[in-house]
This record gives sequence, structure tokens and C-alpha cells, in this order.
Amino acid sequence: MCGIVGYIGTKKASPILINGLLRLEYRGYDSAGIATIEKDGLSIMKDKGRVKNLYNLPGIDDLEGTIGIAHTRWATHGKPSKENSHPHVDNSESFSVVHNGIIENYNELRKFLTDNGYTFYSQTDTEIVPNLIHYYYNKDENDDEQKILRAVKNTCKDLKGSFALEIISKYDKDHMIVVRKDSPLVIGKGDGENYISSDIPAILSFTREFYLLNDLEFALLSRDDIKFYDTDLNPIDKKVQTIEWNAASAEKEGYEDYMLKEIHEQPTAIRETIGAKLDEGTKCTFDELDFTKDYLKGLHKIYLVACGTAMHAGLAGKCMMERLCRIPTEVDIASEFRYRDPIIDDKTLCIFISQSGETADTIAALKLSKQKGAKTLAISNVIGSSITREADYSIYTHAGPEIAVASTKAYTSQVVLLAMLAIYFAETLEESEVEVLNLKKEILELPKKLEETLKCEERIKAFGHRIYQEKDVFFLGRGIDETVARESALKLKEISYIHADSYPAGELKHGPIALIENGITVISIMTDPKLVEKTVSNIQEVITRGAKTLVITNQDVDAKLFDTVIRIPETDSFVSPILSVVPLQLLSYYISKEKGLDVDKPRNLAKSVTVE
Ligand code: AGP
Ligand code: GLU
Repeated sequence: MCGIVGYIGTKKASPILINGLLRLEYRGYDSAGIATIEKDGLSIMKDKGRVKNLYNLPGIDDLEGTIGIAHTRWATHGKPSKENSHPHVDNSESFSVVHNGIIENYNELRKFLTDNGYTFYSQTDTEIVPNLIHYYYNKDENDDEQKILRAVKNTCKDLKGSFALEIISKYDKDHMIVVRKDSPLVIGKGDGENYISSDIPAILSFTREFYLLNDLEFALLSRDDIKFYDTDLNPIDKKVQTIEWNAASAEKEGYEDYMLKEIHEQPTAIRETIGAKLDEGTKCTFDELDFTKDYLKGLHKIYLVACGTAMHAGLAGKCMMERLCRIPTEVDIASEFRYRDPIIDDKTLCIFISQSGETADTIAALKLSKQKGAKTLAISNVIGSSITREADYSIYTHAGPEIAVASTKAYTSQVVLLAMLAIYFAETLEESEVEVLNLKKEILELPKKLEETLKCEERIKAFGHRIYQEKDVFFLGRGIDETVARESALKLKEISYIHADSYPAGELKHGPIALIENGITVISIMTDPKLVEKTVSNIQEVITRGAKTLVITNQDVDAKLFDTVIRIPETDSFVSPILSVVPLQLLSYYISKEKGLDVDKPRNLAKSVTVE
């Protein structure tokens, strides 16, 4: 969670830092702060609340420093307050640190430092870090230029847990140190200046050239240079990577909110994700993959592991893998998978889906699968993200930066990529030829059909206006439509704070129907011709009990039966989630707007969940 930014150059650091934080605010937003190196030492300015509050802090405009670090927090240890905000300093105010992650052994280290005379002013786990750096710095009798770096290295050796750290010191006014372990951090290379950020979009307007750090690698930044070191401070070489996203794609481009912009970007995101991998007349190609027919035939199981929306994309992936490839496929929530001792061996393929590629639970599940001998494949939207560096193979959605906390275009891009992966497997296995041919045709038509689907916006907005004050909403579906029901319920609750639940339509009568009462809203998705009649019967059951109904369908249903019917283009039911989810993404968006909520930054949430 949390966003960190750093700047070292010749310009005034504070506006650059605050600007960077504003772009990263979706990662965490309960408090914010910056530290700069000023003529007379370190200056720390911080407060609880949103980043924009920093503009009101007395003296913020007087900062002159050209080196600084900054943080927007998603609290894990200690409530949001000024004292708990980052940056933190050691007792002598010689070192300042911002931290993303959790120091798991902070109690033990805090006791050690307290026994050595240190005092703590916050409840955070982070505050031990600057003090431990100070402790090692003071103990070190060598007074060379690597003294601070050594103190940071020794500190990191003591830390258990996850951390991305930026460190500045009044003892060295020309350098900054960064290090990461299991938390994200990128270094942007400029001309006579360098940038640090939790993710690429926040500093894309300054540079397209990035360095990526592996776990426990250190970077020592000066204005014109960056030196890299391994865990034991041996110098290492790093290649700069050029990122192709443009800065405009990380901006709102006239839309009121990122979420709305990202919903409308779905035709492009799908087009880009399909790219040159799929064509009607040729085999589906993934240059990054070399799975043979023998390997795929020998597989006992495929696991699709992810969290939240990415897991819902996995549910759609399961339907496709099993039908097209006839390989048993299980979908797991990453945080459960790791702790249930899953049966994994070299006959298991584990696929991890993560938009950000930084979700801590998904990364941990990946590491576990590798240890147990499975081949691992990452699906991510971020090139060079942690998950893609850990996995044996990586393939990418090309949705462009997704900024809104609620995931939209990443989900539909994941579903289309999983469909193409299933096709690639089926073609390698020489299975399901006819279905594959049809599905390819349907996939290629999706961008146009998405444009068509988006035309429902005004009608959905009107429906949202009718129900925005409700307390509970139910979503129903069967088969692949049920996976969309789950995703839509998650979307609604996360940004509108309305309690939303989803059920397989046929399961309703086994209990949940007791909740249906006069006036309650039930939303159903019907795209599978084989299941439509059954689902219609289930909806009748709730209408009889007074429910108000919205139906999303491409089937021939009698519109008179329901309150509102949104018709979407026909497509193969495998890829129907890519279309059927769109009206429901828009519904969540407009309900959140009607309620006057912050759509892009819902309460208690953060875009990238880098803690377990
Ligand atoms: C979706 O709207 C979410 N905010 C959330 O469920 C998200 O999909 C989940 O945290 C996984 O993120 P990832 O794809 O970056 O791993
Ligand atoms: N654990 C630290 C805290 O609670 C950092 C949290 C974050 O990543 O924002 O302050």
C-alpha cells in the first residue's frame, strides 16, 4: 500500500514531491508528508489527511531543498495521525525515512532500541528504521563515503517483513539511498536529476527510463549518477528499461474521474491486449511461452491464483481452460491458497493474475508454488513488476496504467488474455478445433462490440438514480454469468458502500431468498443460451416476492417481465463477461457519484495491496 516519491536534482524538490504524491494518492491516503534536505538540516512536513493538506502547512513554500522524500500512507501500525505520518526521523533528527510495507519484528527491534536509550514518538513499525540506522551509523568507526550505506545495509539485515525505503541524511547532503524487499519501488532516470516512485505512472511525465530493483538491492543516488549494490554492498550493473506508456494515458483526459475514463478505454485496452497474438487464420502465438504438447498433456492440474477482481477474471479463465483444453482447473484466492497446503508438483501449472503485479498475497503464493516444483506463469499489466520477475513465464495485458482503485479495464483485459491463453493451450493440445475457431472470431470482434455496449450509459445512469439510496443489492447469474455477478457485487460495494451480494441463481432458493422483500433490487446477467430459461425462472421467484429487477442480457428474453433490460451484443458466452460487466461497472460508478463519494479513492482501500 502507500505511495512513495523521491527527487534528487537541481530544482526545488517540494513541488515535485507533492505533485508525485497526488498522482500516487490512490495507493493510500490517510496521511501525507515530505522531508527535504535544507541548508540547516532536515525539514519534515507532514499531517494526517489528504495530500492536498500539505499545501496549507506553514513554511512549505519556503523549502529550498533539491533532495527530498515523500509518502502518502495507508496505515498498518498506528492510527492515521500527524505523529504516525511519514517521513519519520531518528531521535537525533539525522536520518529521515519513508517506508511502504510492514516490519514484522518491530516489537523486538523497538525493545532493543529502547534498551539502548532510544525513545519512540509514534505507534508505527517504521519509526524503528531511522533509529536503527542511527544506531549502526554511530557504532561504525570507519568514516568513509559508504558509512550511511553500511548503516542502512546493517539495518535491513535486521528487518523481517516487507519494505520499500527511501533514506536521506543531514550527514550527506548530496545523496539518497533506496532499497526494497517485497514492496514496490522504481527509479526514474532523468538528466542531471533522478526520481523515485512506487509506480511508473506517477513519474512518467518526467522520464520514460527506469531502473527496477530486486529484493535487497541498494541504490545510492546522486544528481548525475546512480550506483547499485547487492545485499553485501558489492557493486552491480543494472540495465535501464524504457517504458512505452505515455504520460497522457495516466491523466484524466477530460473525464471527471479515472474510473470513468478507464471504463471507456476498454475497447482500446482489449484491442491492445489482443495485439498480434491472435488472428483467425493462424495459430495463437505467445512469444514468451514454449509449452509443448507433451508438457500440457502431462498436466494434472492448472491453478489460477489471484485476489479480488483478478480472481474473478480467473473464474472466467477456469470455464475456458476446462472446456477448451479439458485440463482440471482450480481458482484460488491467493491469501487462502498459501495457507491450505495446496497439492502442487511438477505436473501442476500455477498461473498468477495481478494487474499491479505487486499484490503481496499473490507474490507469496507464487513463491510457494515455485518451491513446490510447479511451473509458474504471471499475468500482469505492469512490465517488470515483482510478480513478473518471480515467475518462470510472464504474459501481459496491455490495458495501460489503471489508476482508479476499482479495477475495470484490467479485468476485461485479463479475461481476454485468459481466453487467448486457453486457445493457445487448446491449439498446442490439438483440442476443441471448432470451438477455438469460433472463439477467435468472437474475440476479434470484441473491441467493436464493447463500443456498442458503452452506449447503455444513460439508461444505466437513470437506473442508478433509482436505487442509489438502497441498503442491499443482489446479483445473480449461472455459469460464467455468475462470475460477472461476483465481480459486479464487489465493484458496487467497494465504491458505493452499498451492501452487495452475489449468488448462483439456482442457489437462491437454498437460503438467500429469505432476504428478498418488497422493493429490493436484484440484478441478473444472462448470456448463456443453455441457461437463460432457468435463470429467468429464478428471477420470477424474486419478482413474486416484490423485487425490482435489472437484467443484462444478449438473449431473447421477454422485456415486459422485468423493470429494466439492458441489451448487450451477442457473443460467445466464454468472452461474454467482457461485455456484460460494462453496464454494471457504469452502474457502480453512477451510484457512487449520486452519493457524492470519492469514486477513485474509496474509503479504507488502496490500489495496490502490498501488505499481507
Ligand atoms: C478491484 O476493484 C480491487 N480494488 C481489488 O479487488 C484488486 O483487483 C485486487 O486487490 C488485486 O489487485 P491486483 O490485480 O493488482 O493484484
Ligand atoms: N507500516 C507503515 C505504517 O503503518 C507503512 C504503511 C504504508 O505502507 O503506508 O506507517
